[in-house]
Parts: sequence; C-alpha cells; structure tokens
Amino acid sequence: MALNLDAVGKKIGPIRRDYTWKDVVLYSLGVGAGFDELEYCYEGSLKVIPSFSIASVFDFLAQVGISSDADLSGILHGEQDIIFHNPIPTEGTITTEGAITHMYDKGQGKGALVVAEAETFHSNGKKLFTNIFTIFCRKDGGFGGEPGPSESVEIPDRAPDFEEHASPAPDQPLIYRLSGDIFALHVDPDFARASGFEKPIMHGLCTHGYACRAVIKHLFPGEPERMSRFRVRFSKVLYPGVPITTQIWKVEEGKAFFRTVNDQTRDVIIDRGIVEWISRAELEARSKPKGIRFDGRVAIVTGAGAGLGKAYALELAKRGAKVVVNDLGGSRDGRGGSTMAADAVVEEIKKAGGEAVADYNSVATPEGGEGIVQTAIKAFGRCDILINNAGILRDKTLAKMEPETWNAVMDVHLKGAYNVTRPAFEKMREGRYGRIIFTTSAAGLYGNFGQANYSAAKMGLIGFMNTVKLEGERHNIKVNTVAPIAGTRLTEDILPPEIFSKLKPEFVAPMVLFLASEQCPVTGRIYNAGMGYFNRIAIVTGDGAVLGDGGEITTPEAVAAAMGKIKSLDGAKEFGSATEAFGPMLEAFNPKEQAKAEGATQDLSVKRIFERIPDAFQADKAAGVSVVFQFEISGPTGGSWNVTVKDGTCNVAEGKHQSPTTTIKMKDEDFVKLIKGELKAMAAYTGGKLKIEGDLMKSQLVEKLFKF
Ligand code: NAI
Repeated sequence: MALNLDAVGKKIGPIRRDYTWKDVVLYSLGVGAGFDELEYCYEGSLKVIPSFSIASVFDFLAQVGISSDADLSGILHGEQDIIFHNPIPTEGTITTEGAITHMYDKGQGKGALVVAEAETFHSNGKKLFTNIFTIFCRKDGGFGGEPGPSESVEIPDRAPDFEEHASPAPDQPLIYRLSGDIFALHVDPDFARASGFEKPIMHGLCTHGYACRAVIKHLFPGEPERMSRFRVRFSKVLYPGVPITTQIWKVEEGKAFFRTVNDQTRDVIIDRGIVEWISRAELEARSKPKGIRFDGRVAIVTGAGAGLGKAYALELAKRGAKVVVNDLGGSRDGRGGSTMAADAVVEEIKKAGGEAVADYNSVATPEGGEGIVQTAIKAFGRCDILINNAGILRDKTLAKMEPETWNAVMDVHLKGAYNVTRPAFEKMREGRYGRIIFTTSAAGLYGNFGQANYSAAKMGLIGFMNTVKLEGERHNIKVNTVAPIAGTRLTEDILPPEIFSKLKPEFVAPMVLFLASEQCPVTGRIYNAGMGYFNRIAIVTGDGAVLGDGGEITTPEAVAAAMGKIKSLDGAKEFGSATEAFGPMLEAFNPKEQAKAEGATQDLSVKRIFERIPDAFQADKAAGVSVVFQFEISGPTGGSWNVTVKDGTCNVAEGKHQSPTTTIKMKDEDFVKLIKGELKAMAAYTGGKLKIEGDLMKSQLVEKLFKF
C-alpha cells in the first residue's frame, strides 16, 4: 500500500492523558534516573525530565503511523524535535492535537519521511510543548514527492566539552516500556529475532531520555524547566546493558550540539542532537501572568453575528480563543435567516489574525444546538467555553400575548440555552473544564412592562444556572450569568438615543470574558454589566421568624403580627443550593444543630478547629487505633491541645498531654490552611512547616481520622 498523501493536514486528536507524579517518576526510572538525581524520582521535590513530553504522547505517534498508511514493517522513528513553551507540571491532564504536516520522498528504494506536528496543552491551560516527529518509512519511497529539507549540525572540530557516561541496565526496556511504549520489539525475544535482531533492543526514546538527562546535568544542572528545545536523530540500534556516552559541545550561550555513542562499538546511536535553553530571567518572565488569555481554548458564542455576541467573539479571538461564531442571521423578532452575519464576524476575526468558524444553526431546536457544538468539535476538536447569548424580542402586554409569541421567545432564550448547553456540557465534562455563561436581563430580574415572555425566559435561565452550577462543580465547569445593558438592535427603540449611543456592547465584554476565563473563581453568580458599571445581583433569604414549635400549626393572625420580622432582609443570607436553604428552617427548631451549622460556615480559627474535632472524627476509620496527638500551634491564635483516639472514640482537651504518641508542631496560619485542604501535609512536612516528634507513622493517621 502506498502512503496516503491525503492524510496530510488531517487533524489527529485531541488525545487526552491523565498523569500523576507516579507516571513522572516511572518515566525517570525508565530513562536511568536514580538517587543521584532525586529531583526526578522523589515526589517531595519532583521535577519532570523534559523528554517525558514524548513519553506522554505515544498514542499520537501511533495514530500518525496508522493514518499515513505507511508500511508498518518498514517504519523507524527517524527524528524527534521538541519545543518547550512552559515547564511540565508533575501531574494533571494533557491534551495533544496535531496533524501530519509533510510527506517527503527520498526516492525509490531510499524511503520516505512522514513528518507530524503536535501541540500539547495542560489542564492548567498552558501550552506545554510542540513535538515534531519524523518517521522514516523505509519501504515507501519513490512516490514522486519533494525530498524535504535537512537541518545540518556541524559538530565542532574539537574534543567534546562534556561527556556523560551511563550504563543502562540489561533490563532497562522492561521499566521504560511501562511509560507507554509497549512494542514487542523491546520485550519479546522471539519477536526481536523475527525482526532481525539477536534480542530485544533498547527503545530509541529511552536512550533519548538518557541523553536529555545528560545535557541538563552539564549545561543547566537541576533546572530542567529551562530547556527550550531538544532535537535528535536516531541513527543506530542499541542493546540493553551496553554502556553509552553522551558527548556535548556548547556552541553558544543557550545552545549546544550533542550525540550519544555506543561505548563498545563507538557507533553513534543518537546523532545531530541540538539542545537549546533559556536564561533564568527568561524563564521567570515566561511564568509571569500575561493577563487573561484563551490560547488553546475553544469558545462558542451564540448570536455572535451582531451586537453583544459579536463583541464577545472578537475579544475572545483577540485573546487567543478559537471561536465558533453562531448566528441564524434573522430579524430582531427571530424571523428569517442569513449566513452573512456570522460570516462577516468570522472574516473580521481572521483578518485580525484570529481563528474562527461560522455556524448558522438556530439555537431554538435541539438539533440546532447539537449542530453548533458539532461545528466546534469538527473545526477545533473541543469545547471549553459557551456563551449563550442569542436573543430575539416579541414584546406584547400579557392581554395580547398569544401562545405563538410566548413560545417563540421561550424557544430562543430558555430552550435555546438548554439546546446548546446540554451537548456542550457533555464535551466539557469529557475535557474536565468548562465555562458557561447565560444572558439574563433586567426585564427578568426586575420586570419590564410588555415583556412577560422575555422576562420569564430570562429569569428561567437563572434557575437553569442554579442547578447546572451544582452539576458542573466536580467537572471544573463554572456557570455564571450576565445581565447586560447595551445599545444594539434589541434596544434601539427602548433606550433614549443619547444613552443608546453611549452604551457600546464592548463595555459588557470584559465581564463576560472574565467569567469565561480560567481565572474566574466563581460559579452560580449573576452580574449586571454596562457602560463600565458592574455589580452583582443575588437571591438572598431573610432570617425570618419562627412561629410555633414545629408541631402546632400557626394562624394567619400570627403571621400578620410577625410580618415585620418575616419580611426583613436584615442579616439576609445567600444559599448555594436548595438543600442548604432548607437548613435554617429545619434548624430553627433544633438550636443545638443550628449552632453546629453556623460553626460550619464560620471562618475556621485554630480554637474552632479543636472545638469541631469531635464532629470531624471518622469513628469508622478508628477501629483498633490507639493514639494521643499533641498539637503545639504557635502564633497569635495558637495554643496546646491534645487529642486522644481510643476504642473508636475521640477526646479533645486543651493543654499538654503527659505522654503523647506523636507531637505535631505548626504555625497557626499553616495549621488552618492544612485543615482547609489548602496545604498538603506532605508538602508542609517537606517544606519545614510541619514538624513531627514521636511516632512519625502515626502522624499520618490525622488525615484519615478527621475530615473537616
Ligand atoms: P442583537 O439582536 O444585536 O443580537 C442577537 C443576535 O442573536 C442576532 O445577531 C440574532 O441574529 C441572533 N439570533 C437570534 N435568534 C437566534 C437563533 N435562534 N439562533 C442563533 N442566533 C440567533 O441583540 P443583543 O442586544 O446583542 O442581544 C444579545 C443578548 O443579550 C440577548 O440574549 C438579549 O436578550 C440580551 N440582552 C441584551 C440587552 C441589551 O441591552 N442589548 C439587555 C439585556 C439582555
């Protein structure tokens, strides 16, 4: 079968992978790191060897092989070039997406090169690295294509500036393969013999990891995050157990050439190596926040052909988002349709150097909603942000409002938001990230004559948000609502002309973009935005009055008498869910429970933590446990407390215990952070913020026995 030239440019991915510190350490062990480079092997102070980047995208590489239709019996990993954009975190989810970019022809019998490029983003939103893979297809040359470029590496005519010897263990591939490259050639003796080798061979990428460690050690020791490029050509096979040497020539500040040789045969096994690195100052500059950006994010904006939606789409694209510009292109009351509105905005984005695709579906049907999300997936492979903005008006007083008028407005605003949000939410869940914005209106929040349909739909969105925010919480999906005020065709006959011209839609965009960003800390909130004035709207609940004891039914007269207290919003509270809101009613008849609940919402202090320890105690986890913890908390709010756990019970006392099993010493502020889960016990311990005396092992029971 010949190479599939049509595969060039076709998207591969997104391919997602979750990884933890254990994957990072496993990779480090696989490429020979050990006690000498504990920073690669110990979670207490872990750093990621940059070549981990290729181990993390094997699936992408496999897809390249398959979609190129190359003769798999003749393919070899030829070259690997990696550009690093940001340090690789020690855990998270990475998403890789790319395409085959070129197929080069070396000539009949000389093979072909398939080049693919992939970009990888971390769940923290940062672009981590770009991998450029060159696969040598020995049996696929002679299809009449270009021979392709070649980057020369002129090794200086002098002895290497540095040499690093290493002795991969005879069993090295058995560890390395656990990082994902489980090809039988590196483990199965029969397979290796059938492929023409005397036994299983080292993974080229395993030796690549050795070379990567070697250059870091000699050029920027202990600072792998400074690597900005690592490029190699794989030139010869190596057997496990054979010692190797990486030879390094520094050619300028920030750049060196290298190669790795087989110490027994002097064969060069990794050739034409180029490593580049950045200064500490540049690294620091890179890690400084660059404001709110959306690079790598895909945003859908409904009704983005005009007015507010257009302003959001343009600004999102300017800040790096790939945007789906949805618009039906109809009239103000939702009738008709045209592709022109969406097309014009897409063109404007592209002219300014951004990425966007038009979508003409109506939000008013479930199929339309599905179609909009599919446009995002087909064009960009994901969906991170959804701004439900499309809107129409059909104003009439209630007396004149026929069902058709009522329904048309419901269909676009309320059902429309459901139609698009449902499939988008699904994609966000898969990506473990999402930002959803609903658009409400002052008409719904406060009322507006002649807009009963619109007001009801707009307020319905608040109810929708209140529940979706709860369902999105554990998937890192935040859902908020904006109530804009802007001069658009929807408001041209509502707002006085002098105000209309001042209320530019661009004034609303900053709030919407903030709510759409990774930096957005809130969910379930409503904000007014217009002309540079922003404020929050909330549904709050008053303290109310308790009439009776919960058994006897009260009278209308008693309600009338207590109306002053019932209607008062003094001390009103906001609740995060219906369950939370029921709490005060139930607790009103149970003072003891009420005190506890208030305590739960209070800001934690050290004293309060020890008061709450009996509630936080997990009796089911304490079977057979007998321990006395002595807490010595320093700082202005500190003190001494001891906690005895025995026979499934827990006892807290102020002061010092005579013979504690384990003494835990911390500063008050660190202790509060630890209990709130903002500081990890292990990090606190390794960072010197948590000191333990006595039985160290028993200290680990604290996290298990108490849940706040
Ligand atoms: P606009 O009329 O300029 O933009 C709305 C866009 O939605 C139009 O381009 C329209 O073609 C599109 N659209 C309508 N029905 C659609 C459907 N079924 N499917 C896809 N696209 C559709 O109006 P504006 O002011 O920009 O409105 C945006 C949103 O802001 C609306 O939800 C509106 O209710 C809301 N809003 C606006 C206020 C303002 O002061 N302009 C005040 C409060 C809320």
